[in-house]
Amino acid sequence: MIDDHSRRDLGDLWSLNGRGAVVTGGAAGIGAATVRRLAEAGADVVVADIDESGAARTAVEVAGATGRTVISTRLDIADTASVVAAAELCRDRLGGLDIWVNNAGIYPTTGPALDAADDFIDRLLEVNVRGSYAGAREAARRMSNGGVIVNLASTTGFRAAPGISAYVISKHAVVGLTKSLALEFGPRDVRVVGVAPGPIDTPGVQEQMAPLKAAGLDVAKRMSQTLLGRAGTADDIARVILFLASDMAAWITGEVVVADAGSLAG
Ligand SMILES: NC(=O)c1ccc[n+]([C@@H]2O[C@H](COP(=O)([O-])OP(=O)(O)OC[C@H]3O[C@@H](n4cnc5c(N)ncnc54)[C@H](O)[C@@H]3O)[C@@H](O)[C@H]2O)c1
Repeated sequence: MIDDHSRRDLGDLWSLNGRGAVVTGGAAGIGAATVRRLAEAGADVVVADIDESGAARTAVEVAGATGRTVISTRLDIADTASVVAAAELCRDRLGGLDIWVNNAGIYPTTGPALDAADDFIDRLLEVNVRGSYAGAREAARRMSNGGVIVNLASTTGFRAAPGISAYVISKHAVVGLTKSLALEFGPRDVRVVGVAPGPIDTPGVQEQMAPLKAAGLDVAKRMSQTLLGRAGTADDIARVILFLASDMAAWITGEVVVADAGSLAG
């Protein structure tokens, strides 16, 4: 026997019509591509970023292209008051908070662990880990049934890489956070899922790679060393986020989907 859920047609399962979403770090890179895909699927979106003018630009562009309501706000994910404000903005202005994408993250060049300074480690963890935790918590407090939280992990959430120990720790924590919160929020009918990208060509990666490029490294070649022979685009990840946020993924929670063109596999 086919139950009612199975009979919903594909268009309906993919649709985010009537849903309100917040994308942290939505001004650029993976975040901006995600704002676009969520809006195309019918969601109204808050673009929340520490870069206020970048967020405003993305909001105007996506609203113009999709006809959805897309608004922007300044958010520092490490500042819980601004996290609460973004969640309430979505709930109050967009008619509800259904999707929260914890995309804001930093990956400054670290160098050897032996030289890592405490304040550097603190800042990285406060943005990537505590910020994601606070984002998920404040979102879940304001979601009704059927909410989804999507956390941006990384392939470095599953394996080490030299010179970026604090980042590696932070993304392992995001994987743990995804599972822990899925356990706690499941009874509220809120799914918590993650995406582990790598390597994706974004403004942040270009900035991080600039010194290596200046030193003569063929960055494009290094980034394209995946099983598919190319670096990922921000939209490669935005599409995975759209899937996870939609009812297509209604049976997925507590899981982190690796989207890395096989980098971890081979
Ligand atoms: N690009 C990759 O290869 C890759 C791989 C694995 C994981 N990720 C993760 O995906 C996410 C997005 O990466 P990206 O490459 O698009 O980054 P990006 O640097 O290109 O864009 C990040 C956005 O986040 C914003 N931001 C930074 N700090 C913030 C803060 N404290 N509060 C709010 N917004 C803030 C920036 O202003 C920017 O708009 C990050 O969590 C990153 O760790 C990226």
